[in-house]
Amino acid sequence: MTATRIRVGGEQPYDVLVGRGIIGAELPALVGDQAAVVVLIHADGLEALAGRALEALADAGYSVRAEPVPAGEQAKDIGVATALWSRLAAHRVSRSDAIIGLGGGAVTPTTLLAIVDAAIGGKTAINIAAGKNLVGAFHPPAGVLADLDTLASLPGREYVSGMAEVIKAGFIADPAILDLIEQDPAAAAAPGGPHAREVVERAIAMKAAVVAADLREAGQREMLNYGHTLGHAIERAEHYSIPHGEAVAVGMMFAAAVGRLAGRLDEPTAARHGEILAAVGLPTRYDGGSWPLLREAMAVDKKTRGQHLRLVVLDGLARPGIVTDPAEDLLARAYLEV
Ligand SMILES: NC(=O)c1ccc[n+]([C@@H]2O[C@H](COP(=O)([O-])OP(=O)(O)OC[C@H]3O[C@@H](n4cnc5c(N)ncnc54)[C@H](O)[C@@H]3O)[C@@H](O)[C@H]2O)c1
Ligand SMILES: [Zn+2]
Repeated sequence: MTATRIRVGGEQPYDVLVGRGIIGAELPALVGDQAAVVVLIHADGLEALAGRALEALADAGYSVRAEPVPAGEQAKDIGVATALWSRLAAHRVSRSDAIIGLGGGAVTPTTLLAIVDAAIGGKTAINIAAGKNLVGAFHPPAGVLADLDTLASLPGREYVSGMAEVIKAGFIADPAILDLIEQDPAAAAAPGGPHAREVVERAIAMKAAVVAADLREAGQREMLNYGHTLGHAIERAEHYSIPHGEAVAVGMMFAAAVGRLAGRLDEPTAARHGEILAAVGLPTRYDGGSWPLLREAMAVDKKTRGQHLRLVVLDGLARPGIVTDPAEDLLARAYLEV
């Protein structure tokens, strides 16, 4: 089946190709004829997927090398980075050669979260002791291959977690996503569903449009943070033991409550958050937290500017806005609702 091509504009434009079973057909073309050596960096445990990609590249005549990195967050470490630099030198990789990342959001893009979010926008980062994603660079890729067939082996909870970002795209920019999911939420909670490809393509298109307009996160990109201010605080409180999307789902419930209580968001759209999130199996409430600690964590979230708390809220469906320094009692009342 042919791939859909979604352009990510900006200073260094590139394409995201979306489809099923497209690695073999599309990867060599994406690598192009400048490269001789191709290094495939993949998460541990994804050897079968990596094997398919390596075979397609070897058949196309490249000299291919596989470099496994630890799965998940363990890969985002300066020690892993320096070890990889040495390996690249050992493989005599030059600037005209190619590096491919294969994995979840840490390496990109074989999880739903990676496909609709991490792989788009060229934002890369590693973790340091002081916090997650604190050191990094904006570096657009030459291209992104999002092969939905790779999601077949993804644990169900990870897929549903990624749906939180898809639903976020629906609320902040493209309500057609919500309509498609609502037609059959159970089917939308798994990669084989009838609308999986369309909602994924729509979510990618939304992020592509935002990052093209705003590569370095000055303004418009801030709306992608919908649900993430409380979401990040919950992730920290849980020591990153719950999937990102589950925390963001609760964060969106909170943001919807703030919007409604502030008189900015209508009741039905606020209520729709809980209905659609629950229908795909995402949490809508959080019982484990202490509000003062979460509030404190929200204050140090890297997206806050200076001393001011900035929350993304909705002024209606697909109408994101910012509330700066919302009243403390309003925040506390919104938290009581989750
Ligand atoms: N750069 C960005 O703009 C951006 C945006 C969002 C998230 N992120 C980053 O993404 C990361 C989270 O991404 P994630 O949720 O995809 O987690 P992840 O990369 O940790 O992957 C989760 C687990 O699933 C495994 N996995 C990946 N693909 C699989 C497959 N097809 N089948 C079976 N297992 C598979 C991974 O090896 C890992 O063990 C975080 O580090 C976050 O900071 C970055
Ligand atoms: Zn997110």
